[in-house]
Amino acid sequence: MIIDSLKYPPLRHNAPIKVLFVCLGNICRSPAAEGVLKSIVEENNATEKWVIDSAGTGNYHIGDLPDSRMRAHARRRGLELTHRCRQVHPCDFDEFDIIVPMDASNERNLRAMAPSPEDESKIIPMAKFFTLATRHDHVPDPYYEGAEGFELVLDLLQDGCQNLFDTLTAETLDKV
Ligand code: 4NP
Repeated sequence: MIIDSLKYPPLRHNAPIKVLFVCLGNICRSPAAEGVLKSIVEENNATEKWVIDSAGTGNYHIGDLPDSRMRAHARRRGLELTHRCRQVHPCDFDEFDIIVPMDASNERNLRAMAPSPEDESKIIPMAKFFTLATRHDHVPDPYYEGAEGFELVLDLLQDGCQNLFDTLTAETLDKV
């Protein structure tokens, strides 16, 4: 899915693409998104072209590793999630080109925090990048779910992060 707002992030040729994934707790969905995109970037030998991080709108788990269930499901797919939880901060709008909330609640909180309309235009929901899972318009919170919830998160993120990588790579190439 190519969306209009992807034409406008201030991406520059020869500058790294800086992406921040955001969820509520920063122990399940957003650190998984960070791990999935990092692995896609590594597979494509593009690590020097990307800065990838994650954060939470909440402050319940600051300093923690990702949830043990999320880490176990990710590990089965070859991903080691080593992020330490942190809370999103208005400064992140200076630091990152694209800020990617997992659901509508995260998106609302980010929009309220954005220091300016230009900063707000950096917010692009994860679901905008889905190509396969048209049934889902967000990444569902798996925290109170069983194994299927964690597997669904990883399936959605694999699809969305691949499209995010392809789309933003093409976007920067267009700017040569
Ligand atoms: P996340 O999941 O937003 O995907 O990291 C959650 C993790 C923890 C909580 C809620 C959601 N919590 O309420 O502690």
